[in-house]
Amino acid sequence: MRFLADVDGAAAGTASGGDGESTGAAALTAMWVDPAFRRAGVGDLLVRTVVEWARAEGYDRLFLWVTAVNLNAERLYSRNGFQRAGGSQEVRPGELEFEMSRALHPRSLR
Ligand SMILES: CC(C)(COP(=O)(O)OP(=O)(O)OC[C@H]1O[C@@H](n2cnc3c(N)ncnc32)[C@H](O)[C@@H]1OP(=O)(O)O)[C@@H](O)C(=O)NCCC(=O)NCCS
Repeated sequence: MRFLADVDGAAAGTASGGDGESTGAAALTAMWVDPAFRRAGVGDLLVRTVVEWARAEGYDRLFLWVTAVNLNAERLYSRNGFQRAGGSQEVRPGELEFEMSRALHPRSLR
């Protein structure tokens, strides 16, 4: 499911939620906010929307991958309850990305 953030008729950002191909887990992918609309809470809104989508679909966990140098994105995900989940892989030679995940059951609501 792809979500688009609309700000006064303009497409300000997007994020997707899909099946994570592991039992009970959904994946958050394709997270992007137009530079003209950054630092205004659009990223938070998109993450929260995918969290709500995944919970409504009945998933237990939501995970994503973030590159090691993308501190803005890692802060956004940490603020929304994600923690590094242990997995890491090389996206390009010399560039690592890390898995982050969070639980979705009701008591993890923030
Ligand atoms: C990472 C990304 C999605 C963040 O989007 P965003 O819309 O800027 O996110 P938010 O506005 O929710 O939060 C960003 C910052 O703005 C701050 N902010 C939120 N609302 C604000 C407001 N009204 N006024 C001032 N600052 C605000 C947040 O506190 C946060 O601060 P921090 O980075 O110092 O912690 C965006 O930078 C992006 O698209 N980057 C390129 C693509 C990318 O890296 N995608 C992720 C791949 S894993």
